[in-house]
Amino acid sequence: MTGNNLNIADIRQDYKLSVLDDDAVGHDPVSFFQKWFAEAKNAQVTEVNAMTLATADGKGIPHARIVLLKGLDQNDFVFFTNYDSAKGNDINANPFAALVFFWKELERQVRVEGKIEKIPAAESDTYFRSRPVGSRLGAWASPQSQEITDRNILDTNYARYEKEFSTGEIPRPPHWGGYRVMPNHIEFWQGRSSRMHDRILFTKNERGEWCKSRLAP
Ligand SMILES: Cc1cc2nc3c(=O)[nH]c(=O)nc-3n(C[C@H](O)[C@H](O)[C@H](O)COP(=O)(O)O)c2cc1C
Repeated sequence: MTGNNLNIADIRQDYKLSVLDDDAVGHDPVSFFQKWFAEAKNAQVTEVNAMTLATADGKGIPHARIVLLKGLDQNDFVFFTNYDSAKGNDINANPFAALVFFWKELERQVRVEGKIEKIPAAESDTYFRSRPVGSRLGAWASPQSQEITDRNILDTNYARYEKEFSTGEIPRPPHWGGYRVMPNHIEFWQGRSSRMHDRILFTKNERGEWCKSRLAP
């Protein structure tokens, strides 16, 4: 295997911090997610709301990247991005997504899967208005995922929009807004010793009820 000089194969971590008990998880995975999120936040996990977002394009080829969870809308997981980005194109072609949180300080992983759709424009407007000025201008200035010949293009765009919106409010670009992932699978993983981890999976049935099961690690 290449990279042997880095001793990558020898890197190992045994997990001993906690256990995941079936009863403790309860019957509502979104409530339990909130409990674990609060614990991760209290444990000062850095970038606690960073999550891997996996989408697949029209050919079924997967693509993954980090985005930030910005809220739970009812039971849906909301993030914001550029609708014209590569991920936006994937979602247009194939409106399903998977999210992964890894809170290593707590030896925990949460996986979320489900259908994905844009949130209402008015909700994107509200969140956009709450962003710092620089981020709002950045949303206008960056043609996310498109090839640019050099970095100066971003600075030029930024300066242009800074001037254009210097006198009034910065409106939300039509190509920027929120998506919500509407979960039908949520899995909680707690690391245990000797790779004998705990996994509790919630799956939504046709009646919209959550069913709980335990998976082998
Ligand atoms: C910690 C972190 C947080 C990020 N948060 C976001 C985000 O909330 N929204 C976003 O569009 N990109 C975010 N990004 C950038 C994405 O990972 C990615 O580079 C970008 O969205 C373009 O992805 P795409 O070309 O697959 O569409 C973040 C990256 C990191 C490392």
